[in-house]
Amino acid sequence: MYSEYQHLIDLSDYPVSWWTKIVELGEKIYNNPSEYAHVCDGKIMATLFYEPSTRTQMSFQTAMIRLGGQIIGFDNPANSSVAKGETIKDTTKIVSNYADVLVMRHPIAGASKAASLTTDCSVINAGDGGHLHPTQTLTDLLTLKIEKHTLSGLTIGMCGDLLNGRTVHSLCKALSQFKDNKFIFISTSQLGMPPYIKDIIKASGSTYEEANTIEEVIGKLDVLYMTRIQQERFASEEEYLAQKNTYVLDHQKMQKAKQDMIVMHPLPRVDEITVDVDNDKRAMYFTQAKYGMYVRMALIMTILGEKKRSETLKGKVIAGVRCDNPNCITNHEEYLPKSFRVSGDGTLLECEYCDERKLI
Ligand code: NCD
Repeated sequence: MYSEYQHLIDLSDYPVSWWTKIVELGEKIYNNPSEYAHVCDGKIMATLFYEPSTRTQMSFQTAMIRLGGQIIGFDNPANSSVAKGETIKDTTKIVSNYADVLVMRHPIAGASKAASLTTDCSVINAGDGGHLHPTQTLTDLLTLKIEKHTLSGLTIGMCGDLLNGRTVHSLCKALSQFKDNKFIFISTSQLGMPPYIKDIIKASGSTYEEANTIEEVIGKLDVLYMTRIQQERFASEEEYLAQKNTYVLDHQKMQKAKQDMIVMHPLPRVDEITVDVDNDKRAMYFTQAKYGMYVRMALIMTILGEKKRSETLKGKVIAGVRCDNPNCITNHEEYLPKSFRVSGDGTLLECEYCDERKLI
């Protein structure tokens, strides 16, 4: 299935050279923003945020404004026809008649992909439930490029809610495509990295190990990527409280880290990094958020400039088979074609919207 527009739903839909070009352009814009002040004159970007956001939404909006374009959208679906029960298909189809590019965040996995099947403009995934967040990954890659001068040969610790944290899923998929990166996952057993991400790392030739505490591994790391426990993705308050406060990075733990290790965090921070770390020169999270605007300028320019069509669904529609993930968009919007990739030597089906696996 094809769309006449170019979308960014998952970075893996593109060759690595495409993303590195965007990261390089982001760095150029960062060094000389005024040169790009009119490249999107006359263009309109819509931000459809069905879930809370500060950085992603505002950095996209300021990115478009700094490129000379204009913005429309909502950040409270209760004020739009969504509140009257309108489907994603109808809302995004209509808005795609008004805008040249649509940036969408939604609490359900696969929502942006679902929109991209029928819109009449490009769609950018700004976070789909606990699944993926490709533009945070572009932000993270630009941060690594500027601050570590490389995207290869790094030892990256990822800590916190690795199960529900979409930023770490997208970042692992991306960094495993560069040479000699090594991942160390620091989480409780309940909030570990999903098996499908571990399999992608193994297949790429990168390696990973797992650890229980920050202290036991911090001395080996080039990058420590902290994440918050994703309260909104837990079934109950008790389950969230049982995980809360397990991992806290503080000034004392930072003493054991290398002098050139950097601390990253997609933000918002809840309590996983104490404020006494903020003044450490290795704390990179506020600068990281600033880089996000420049890389999003590069992405908007690229998507609007290239005008390529996209292959939206590549898998098989198998009669009567549904995705087992209750948080998959195909279980919320019935009209969507349910489409699966066949993997694991023909024994597994992977949902093309949310990556949930089931045995055949
Ligand atoms: C992240 C997100 O929304 O996934 N924030 C962001 O986009 N900068 C991380 C989070 O919410 O924990």
